[in-house]
Amino acid sequence: MALQHLLSTRDLSVKDINSLLDDASSVLTPDGLHPMQSHELRGKRLVLAFFEASTRTRLSFETAADRLGASSIFFQGSGSSVEKGETMRETIFTIQSMGFDAIILRHAHNGIHSEIAAYSTMSVINAGEGSAQHPTQALLDASTLREFAGDVSGRRVAIVGDLRHSRVARSTTDVLTRLGADVAYCAPDALAPNDEMFSTMQRFSSMDELLPWANVVYLLRIQRERLSDEIILDPDDYRLRYSFTMERARTFPNVAVMHPGPVNVGVEIDEPVLDLPQCLIHRQVTHGVAVRMAVLRKLLST
Ligand code: NCD
Repeated sequence: MALQHLLSTRDLSVKDINSLLDDASSVLTPDGLHPMQSHELRGKRLVLAFFEASTRTRLSFETAADRLGASSIFFQGSGSSVEKGETMRETIFTIQSMGFDAIILRHAHNGIHSEIAAYSTMSVINAGEGSAQHPTQALLDASTLREFAGDVSGRRVAIVGDLRHSRVARSTTDVLTRLGADVAYCAPDALAPNDEMFSTMQRFSSMDELLPWANVVYLLRIQRERLSDEIILDPDDYRLRYSFTMERARTFPNVAVMHPGPVNVGVEIDEPVLDLPQCLIHRQVTHGVAVRMAVLRKLLST
């Protein structure tokens, strides 16, 4: 079925996910992306409306649009008329009146993407929604894991860190689980997820406990912008129990390391780990361009 919006990983069947991953893999080379330029989406106009900070998601959507011949314009939420009291609905109608085909939206408020999709004639593509969803991140994670391990099915992935406030934890867990991965998690109590989808998942109490089990350690940043003031974490204890240190990397050279970025070096990971062959973090970024191209093609090709 034709898809108008991409609001959640739940909008995609396993068949949809696999076909997006196949499409993404066609533009990847072993160390980068094919130097292609297509005109497939020529005439399509995208607006990236970002009400939260971003490096990778913004640049990779812009790169994906460019490689497909679509135009993209960046709209920075902070400093816009929203700060003068304009409603989000009015901002969206203003953007829509300029003739955009799709809005790629990042916003801190859970549920806002589907609210907008209910009245917008533009395709709404979720580029990050509070602590709820980040569907293209989930696709790029699945794509990277599939390339690294040959298949997602049967791979053991441990998600470590701030799952409670992480949209990535929710969307990536959903996609990897539906593709047959065995997903577990590890988090201090204050950052452990309390929603239903994690209730039946295996939980490890420390990095040292999970490393002999895992094929992949998926690290998460502590989402300080979403943390309530009551949560106080001891940095030494965090490092001891949850950080992927150089020492651990040397002991477990076959365990791959993933992270959605941005990385907080010295907190969840040691800086030299970023240069090790077992570290897939920069490869994830490349897959981010490839899967976003696949998503734009799926939603906007006519
Ligand atoms: C993540 C995000 O914004 O949700 N980053 C990303 O999109 N690559 C994760 C994070 O901010 O920690």
